[in-house]
Amino acid sequence: MDAPRIDLYSDTHTKPTPAMRQAMAEAEVGDEQNFEDPTVNKLCAMVAELLGQEAAVFLPSGTMCNQIAFRVHCQPGDEIILDYFAHPINAESGGPSALSMAQTRALQTKCGIFTANQVRDAIRPARRHAPRSRVLSVENTTNYGGGSIWPIEDIAAVTAVAREHGMATHMDGARLLNAVVESGTSAKEYGRHFDSLWIDLSKGLGCPIGGVLAGSADFIKQAWRQKQLLGGAMRQAGIIAAAGVYALEHHVERLAEDHENARNFSRAIAQIPGIKLLFDRCETNLVFFDVADTGLDAAEVGKQLQARGVRIGAMGPTRMRAVTHLDISPEQLVEAAQILSDVVS
Ligand SMILES: Cc1ncc(COP(=O)(O)O)c(C=O)c1O
Repeated sequence: MDAPRIDLYSDTHTKPTPAMRQAMAEAEVGDEQNFEDPTVNKLCAMVAELLGQEAAVFLPSGTMCNQIAFRVHCQPGDEIILDYFAHPINAESGGPSALSMAQTRALQTKCGIFTANQVRDAIRPARRHAPRSRVLSVENTTNYGGGSIWPIEDIAAVTAVAREHGMATHMDGARLLNAVVESGTSAKEYGRHFDSLWIDLSKGLGCPIGGVLAGSADFIKQAWRQKQLLGGAMRQAGIIAAAGVYALEHHVERLAEDHENARNFSRAIAQIPGIKLLFDRCETNLVFFDVADTGLDAAEVGKQLQARGVRIGAMGPTRMRAVTHLDISPEQLVEAAQILSDVVS
């Protein structure tokens, strides 16, 4: 398949910029699993500080951040409460059951944001027959929930219920910095409600690899044991951590441009007959829409777009998702909207 000229498939498709590559080439490195890589150590210290946590650990992926956190928090037979569309339920190969021997309890929501009452209702009675409600996991921003931002009051409310019941609280912050930039709520303010949380480097921040999981010193000590066990301990990983350091210094504030671009794109495609936006508001960088009323399905629209140099992912029989990011300009989005209009009319 030829590389598309305008790739709106995912913010994971960004390529490291020349300046980021330069920073990677010049990184000081050492043996990461002996804590001797100064660049990894620097990245972890930056993320721990950013999220208001005692410590952090560098991991190869966001998926591993979620799965390691669950392994630390859970015993076999425990239950993790999270949104129906949450990434660990839908896109981590059954990780909670395979790796933590924990089951998931999915809450139904419109855009990935559930209420304190939903959590209260989902928590199991303390009975020998019931699984133990052990972790509450919040995704911010919500991926399949349209890039929606959790209001900080809602986070405070749901995590308070979890704590009342002795549960651990976890945040999947794959796109937390999008939420921070857009809402003005600091990462620390979000972070103080969680026992564990992480950010992804390889999404809007534009790095090639990696996530950083943060928590208390004791949590991170346990997370390191899991990292070793799962084969995630690395060697001269400063080469890739340098991209993360660079991104935290240069690519955070610019996420606002991605959000503005996504809003403009969503306004443009909302005018196309047969295209229906799936969420009332486009808050960050994800634009979900449905093509059913065009008479085509998502696979067909995707194929025709691709033939014209635009890549947009099918997320169901008629649902599609376009994602703005570092490598996408406003002009490209105007062109992509025009091509989408041509394809469906
Ligand atoms: C909300 C969310 N969580 C977790 C992940 C997993 O991240 P990674 O691809 O780095 O494993 C993703 C990736 O798309 C995501 O969108």
